Amino acid sequence: MIGIISAMQEEIQALLHQLQNITTTEKGMRTYYAGTLYHKKVILVFSRWGKVASAVTTTQLINDFNVSEIIFTGVAGGIKNELNIGDIVIGRNLYQHDLNASPFYEKLEIPILKKKYLETSNASKLMEATKLFIRNYNQFISKSDAQFFNITYPNVWFGDIASGDQFISSLKKIKKLNKLIPTATCVEMEGASVAQVCYEYNIPFSIIRIISDKANDNAHIDFPKFANSIASNYALGILKNYFA
Ligand code: ADE
Repeated sequence: MIGIISAMQEEIQALLHQLQNITTTEKGMRTYYAGTLYHKKVILVFSRWGKVASAVTTTQLINDFNVSEIIFTGVAGGIKNELNIGDIVIGRNLYQHDLNASPFYEKLEIPILKKKYLETSNASKLMEATKLFIRNYNQFISKSDAQFFNITYPNVWFGDIASGDQFISSLKKIKKLNKLIPTATCVEMEGASVAQVCYEYNIPFSIIRIISDKANDNAHIDFPKFANSIASNYALGILKNYFA
């Protein structure tokens, strides 16, 4: 069974539409949708926003649903100039940018684990699936939605991701983040906490992040519309290739 998590209902909507033979389980204010997606047994859940919400959901998924792998999919704010809205980041190393237990530990270091970041698994397979998807992405999103968000030639990146309990929407914060984690390509609010739970339970973890904004003053504009009409359909197209 493969666990698939998103933070928002909108980000998982296209997957839910394609899910066959659905059974649902309600636990801890979450709905877990088990079923078949492109001939693979999967379980879908939206965790809600933030590191606590996503860590709790991941733990439940691992302990109650016997998952062999977890994939997170959702949107992120690009913090490198080269990244455009509609680009895709396949996660390499996941950092918690708001973790600072100094002077007991170094900045960013996860207490006890002796790590500042956690690595993903299955990245090359996911990169291949994403590169294949990019060639035909317009089969999965409408022309008008692509035009609305100015998406013409989306790129795929294999990059580091910074997670924290903050929606980033200022250049000042981006500058700080660039200094703290120079390799980070984008920011979001869940990936690194899901990565930590997966690491502690020894479950392979990978992550797809679709750039919805540039973490600046405009970051909030049409956020749910992007998640629903673009990110969710991208995830469907990528996972179709990943499962093939
Ligand atoms: N998810 C999508 N855009 C984001 C941003 N700018 N900050 C944090 N999380 C995000």
